[in-house]
Amino acid sequence: MNGNTSSKINETVSWVGKWTFVLAAAGSAVGLGNIWGFPYKAGTEGGGAFVLIYLLCILAVGLPIMMAEIMIGRRARKSPVNAMKTAAIDSGQTGKWQAVGWGGLISGILILSFYSVIAGICLNYIIIAAFPTPDISSLEQFNIVTASPSRLLFWHSIFIALNIIIISAGVIGGIERMVRLLMPMLFILMMVMVINAMINGDFARGLNFLFAPDFSEVDATTFLRAMGQAFFSLSLGMGSIMCYGSYMPQEENIFKTSLTVAGLDTLIAILAGLAIFPIIFAYGLEPGAGPGLVFVSLLSAFVDMPLGNIIGPAFFALLSIAALSSAISLLEPSVAYFEEEKIVSRFSAALTLGLFAWVIGIGSVLSFNDWSDISFIGDLNFLDSIDYLANQFLMPIGGMMVAIFAGWFLKPDLALDEFSGIHLAIFKIWRFFIKFISPVLVAAVFIYQLVS
Ligand code: PFF
Repeated sequence: MNGNTSSKINETVSWVGKWTFVLAAAGSAVGLGNIWGFPYKAGTEGGGAFVLIYLLCILAVGLPIMMAEIMIGRRARKSPVNAMKTAAIDSGQTGKWQAVGWGGLISGILILSFYSVIAGICLNYIIIAAFPTPDISSLEQFNIVTASPSRLLFWHSIFIALNIIIISAGVIGGIERMVRLLMPMLFILMMVMVINAMINGDFARGLNFLFAPDFSEVDATTFLRAMGQAFFSLSLGMGSIMCYGSYMPQEENIFKTSLTVAGLDTLIAILAGLAIFPIIFAYGLEPGAGPGLVFVSLLSAFVDMPLGNIIGPAFFALLSIAALSSAISLLEPSVAYFEEEKIVSRFSAALTLGLFAWVIGIGSVLSFNDWSDISFIGDLNFLDSIDYLANQFLMPIGGMMVAIFAGWFLKPDLALDEFSGIHLAIFKIWRFFIKFISPVLVAAVFIYQLVS
């Protein structure tokens, strides 16, 4: 399938080049979570203190769990459900650990359902940024877009269709080719946006907002949000990275690649913050505006920027592509499972699961307009409820279960084997974190949230 540079191991395909796993995993990690989610959550949670807690979560919880997921996936070279089962059985444990994989498949579909609606807005903004309507403020423009269920549904449908097409083409054909070129382009465009913010924005205030922590705003929810965002942004706790790990060539070093992926992901989130907040302050917009933050602030910036009607659409196009490379990794674990078990063909699996996510996504479309006053979980609307369920509940619990399994139930020798090439001291530090620090931190955040 992929020439002599790659291997065919246990009937499973493998990424071709040395950098492809990093790019594919970064393609999964870098997406709306970084450029849409991180700035708006930093905005509503008070800025610097949230950013600091987020960084801590990436290092103490995200990185060790990412290594564990890649290790379990690559060892089995199977989809997450079967990878968990294999690792458990090989360690003399019950195969019921596969439930962690199942939980991941469900979260993947749930996340895809609302992710696609937001990504659809990005697609629409490619056109809006190319031909901005005169005399309409960027806030009014966002309200026009979100007030129309048919418009949101149209773009949501296009985005889901793109997913189905790429997933059907398979891992190497569809995903690998896409991430190689586009990830570097997105990075360059983010730098352009930061430079623009330096020239046209209130950069000092933006920096201060992002990096000067004010702990007076911090409460239990800040921790839960920051941790949920860390899981979401690194694509952890639901099998995406485990699934991509199953395509990772054997000779690659899991520690170095995890560090690179987590580093790139964090860098893009910070760059997004640096591109957006200076503009927010310069234009007198509200940092805590919520989900519309990126669309409103960046459209204002593009309208005033020289060549804005070229750079603007290019930016939203790349953002849509970044969203697409993440969305693919939401669907891939379940499609891989159906294909592996020979239940249905890859195409039928992609079509059925994609349609399923599309139907649930209609609820998110409506929560911007007709259902905006209807609450589902607590006082949250449909989209926010699914986001909350996946982000702050399913993913951290999935991640915690992976950590508990890898730390306490997986035979250490199996892990050590798979980590070959890693310095023994790093392995010991990883074991300490995955056993004690990561699961305890996740549990502590949950308990703190419950009792406060
Ligand atoms: N990490 C992606 C983002 O930040 O946009 C979203 C995502 C992809 C979450 C894949 C979870 C996942 F499994």
